[in-house]
Amino acid sequence: MIIKEQLIADAVTKISVQSGPEVRVSGLRKTYERTTGREVVRTHALVDVHLTIEREEFVSVIGPSGCGKTTVLKVIAGLLEPTGGTVEVAGQAVKGPGTDRGVVFQQPSLMPWKSVRDNVLLALEFAKIPRAERSRRADKYLALVELKGFEGHFPGELSGGMQQRVGLARALALEPRVLLMDEPFGALDAITRQQMQIELIRIWNQEKKAVLFVTHSIEEALLMSDRIVVMANGGVAHVVEVPLSRPRTSEALLNDPVARQLRTHLESLL
Ligand SMILES: Nc1ncnc2c1ncn2[C@@H]1O[C@H](COP(=O)(O)OP(=O)(O)O)[C@@H](O)[C@H]1O
Ligand SMILES: [Mg+2]
Repeated sequence: MIIKEQLIADAVTKISVQSGPEVRVSGLRKTYERTTGREVVRTHALVDVHLTIEREEFVSVIGPSGCGKTTVLKVIAGLLEPTGGTVEVAGQAVKGPGTDRGVVFQQPSLMPWKSVRDNVLLALEFAKIPRAERSRRADKYLALVELKGFEGHFPGELSGGMQQRVGLARALALEPRVLLMDEPFGALDAITRQQMQIELIRIWNQEKKAVLFVTHSIEEALLMSDRIVVMANGGVAHVVEVPLSRPRTSEALLNDPVARQLRTHLESLL
């Protein structure tokens, strides 16, 4: 009886630990300082940012250029130290980069002299994943992004879209809790971009991770997200729920009355 009660108590603790958000950003501030001659120039890039991302939730961040989107993402990634405030991933304070977060930027920054597979393997080596496991993961995630058959290619032999797939595979191979993406399809042509959006949603359906997706396209945000965070002047100005059923297509969203309303609303906020 006592054992049973203990088991129940443990289960309850476990559930309550897991029930928090995947990412919690509280009171985040970031001031950049630059010295030009004798003057110190300060940019208050983040003023007081609060946001959460739930498990399996797809959250987009939109806002005008310079409003702080990349800064927020980099602080969550642990690549930038905040001036104030906190970031927690699964209840743990972020103190630097870690394998619980996979990052994808607009440019995948692949090593040009290494093959596709070696690029993924290298990231796993940096993350101190054991050798056999590195191999398994590289194969698994390159297949997931549909690059089977291209493992031996060099980045220079791939299209922009395929390079970005390598970047995505490299991030996914860390098996992170959270995927952080900064305008990942911003440099791609319209058709490739659309293909990548479909691919990302397919992968997200399969892997069900929390995603923070920075974009400056309202259409892209509507297509992908559960919630849209609108940033302005270094803070969160609005959070908009996207109650559209999935799967979604750009064509269907054009005529959907709820999508139309959301689009107009978001345009008015930007
Ligand atoms: N390394 C840096 N040094 C100084 N200022 C910066 C730096 N990075 C960004 N900023 C400034 O911080 C603000 C927010 O930038 P950023 O986060 O890149 O915005 P966004 O991604 O929304 O375009 C901008 O005013 C930008 O000029
Ligand atoms: Mg940016």
